[in-house]
Amino acid sequence: MPEFADLFGGPPALEASAPGRVNLLGEHTDYNDGFVLPTAIPQRTRVQLGRSLDGWNRFYSVHFDGLASYRAGEAVPPGYVGYVAGCLEMLRDNWPVLGPVNLLIRSEVPIGAGLSSSAALEVAVLRGLRALFGLSLDDVAIAQLAQQAEIRYAGVRCGIMDQMAASLADTGHMLFLDTRSLERRLLPLPEGSELIVLDSGVPRRLAGSAYNRRREECEEASRRLGVASLREVGDEGRAGALPEPLRRRVRHVVGENRRVLRAVATASAEEFGALMNASHASLRDDFEVSVPELDTLVGLLQRHPAVYGARLTGAGFGGACVALARAGLGQEVKTAVLTAYAAQGHQGRALV
Ligand code: GLA
Repeated sequence: MPEFADLFGGPPALEASAPGRVNLLGEHTDYNDGFVLPTAIPQRTRVQLGRSLDGWNRFYSVHFDGLASYRAGEAVPPGYVGYVAGCLEMLRDNWPVLGPVNLLIRSEVPIGAGLSSSAALEVAVLRGLRALFGLSLDDVAIAQLAQQAEIRYAGVRCGIMDQMAASLADTGHMLFLDTRSLERRLLPLPEGSELIVLDSGVPRRLAGSAYNRRREECEEASRRLGVASLREVGDEGRAGALPEPLRRRVRHVVGENRRVLRAVATASAEEFGALMNASHASLRDDFEVSVPELDTLVGLLQRHPAVYGARLTGAGFGGACVALARAGLGQEVKTAVLTAYAAQGHQGRALV
């Protein structure tokens, strides 16, 4: 594995990092101004960086095993380079002090599993740039810049959940976030429970285009209902006059916001788990972002006696599931469920 000094001819000035996230409840609600409940996962993306003296930015990703160079103002290339260059571009207008950098990326966050490796990378890079150039940016501003970098340069019209989680969440708490006001609270996991995250082994298919399509449908439904966002629809009965699939989409968003609010108000592990199960059914039937393998894996988790509840997590279309299990029994659940999943011909793996 190459070291920073081998690549760039001297030691890094500093290091920065940010975690991936898993969302417990509140899926496809953030771009509808709604509520979300993510937590940070232990896996982090780490960057080392230092100033570059010849006008070029150079990035090396250990995962992709490649060196890329980029000059400020050039067309931002696709792939991971685009996420990093996008962050630089986001800062350039307001921070003339920013100069070119050498940057080495090491990521433990699984890529393509729905655990926000891109937000972890963006937030780690922005933290590194903040420290290197002494920029006065708080953690919310970092999240907002990271989200804009993703929208503008990666072409995914994402909400702000992932970047807020990478910037503000920790592994010991759930981050209850109102995505409209950005008001937030750190809350403990339901008593007597522990988290499980399993990868279905199915890479996310068409995640970008199908995701943007869902967002357009929600915007179309808001327009027809005369509201600024679906957050303002308190009762799905109002969506009765909408054509399908818009009616189903609204039903998911309204129900999902209600589930998050219930979860933070009561949060016995049993009730929390039941809300996760209801969320999965809604994502599968009304929002239509599940795939058969995710349904299989979630079903196996839900039927295990030590599991309170389980659901797909992240945008869907493949990727990972999250479950809440009885504290101390997580390992047993993971082994049993992955064995049963393998018996059905699928290759899953435990991520948390
Ligand atoms: C992706 C997006 C988030 C959010 C989730 C779905 O992770 O980046 O903003 O919309 O999908 O809840």
